[in-house]
Amino acid sequence: MKIKIFLLLIVSPFLIQSQGIEEISSSNSNDKMLWFEEAKLGIFIHWGIYSVNGISESWSFYNGYISHHDYMKQLKGFTANNFDPKKWSNLIEESGAKYTVITTKHHDGFALWDSKYGNLNSYKSSTSKKDLLSPFIREIRSKGIKLGLYYSLPDWSYKDYTHHTNKIKRYNIQENPKRWNRFLKYRDGQLKELKTRYNPDLWWFDGDWEHNAVEWKIIELKNILKKNSPNVIFNSRLNGLGDYETPEIGIPVFRPNAKYWELCVTINDSWGYQQNDNNYKTPMQVIDLFVDSLSKGGNLLLNISPKEDGSIPEKQVEVLKELGKWTKKHSSAIYKTERGIPYEHFYGPSTLSKDKKTLFLYVRDLPKDNNIILKGVSTKINRAYIVGNGTVLNQQVLCKVYWNKYPGITYIEVPKQTIDKYYTVIALVLDDTINLYKEKVGAIENN
Ligand code: GLC
Repeated sequence: MKIKIFLLLIVSPFLIQSQGIEEISSSNSNDKMLWFEEAKLGIFIHWGIYSVNGISESWSFYNGYISHHDYMKQLKGFTANNFDPKKWSNLIEESGAKYTVITTKHHDGFALWDSKYGNLNSYKSSTSKKDLLSPFIREIRSKGIKLGLYYSLPDWSYKDYTHHTNKIKRYNIQENPKRWNRFLKYRDGQLKELKTRYNPDLWWFDGDWEHNAVEWKIIELKNILKKNSPNVIFNSRLNGLGDYETPEIGIPVFRPNAKYWELCVTINDSWGYQQNDNNYKTPMQVIDLFVDSLSKGGNLLLNISPKEDGSIPEKQVEVLKELGKWTKKHSSAIYKTERGIPYEHFYGPSTLSKDKKTLFLYVRDLPKDNNIILKGVSTKINRAYIVGNGTVLNQQVLCKVYWNKYPGITYIEVPKQTIDKYYTVIALVLDDTINLYKEKVGAIENN
């Protein structure tokens, strides 16, 4: 009984609060998600002192591959000497991304701005001696690119945080709630600072697994960040109390149930810069991921990892530029679209315009005999053309008879000279909103 009462006391404030949050976020949650839904592509930036040695971000000391002391020696090598925020934002814009998310502070606690909370930041403790966020954000804002701020809930270097490494836990919250509150005060101080200065469009939290929502005080935290910014978006790494899901690295095989989701993915195999990681995805492979996300109704948040001096590795620049050429050519089939039709109708990815009157088919490979096949679309196709090129395509309809409603099989001829280096996109302009044939095909009833 005692245990039950205890549990109730612990859980009930959370339940009450979480009901409250539902009320708040359901009021205009769809409107506030509109820009995110239409943006489709974002660039993630992991920049921190881990780029000096080129070791894994924060985890390298947490998991004991390097001591905390030696990890922190990287502060000296973090110069930001060649940091060119204009170049960064030009590249982001060129890639076709409509938003960016930058690590303001990773789990190691190193902040990229001149915070008055704590001493571990690019102004006070690294050779860079600069606030690095402000100049970048200024450039991003000037281009109308939406701003997301990544912030790690855990801070493994901060004296009042519970965890230091996977072997060293400083204390338990239950034993020392005062100490935990000191940590929360510091965290909220930093977050208020970020909010006041930069007023982000999106908060991208990480590391919620170390505590539960009540311990993190997620509801209170969200309320602080929503004050005067009711439309701000939260990712879901807030013990699930966010606006959209964030699968990581692996593209979901099946479409996630969540209405809004975003795949965050590395450009090679690492989040931070690692000189030994040359397992770069080619532009084709990045576009594969992007098209897959698009056709399943999600966003792609592609990560880049600048070096300690602020330069972006050439290989990464190349990928973003190639991606940009493709997104520019195919913009009408990318932004402001919705997920496409089931694979039973077309063996490949697709998207639909918002009015559902244009269907975009993405063709990765050279079609055999130059034809692609579409099945069971009942709406009349008024025109088929190559996106970004305009060539009108010939169609042939097979297996359609006048005495039943089965729409037949449409062969669309894609001439070889119109094939794109990456994906060729075919637009089908429909006579009305798309209608997919779902009935059984019956026996001949007339002839
Ligand atoms: C994980 C990792 C972190 C990385 C993040 C990006 O949560 O802890 O290192 O920054 O994913 O999504």
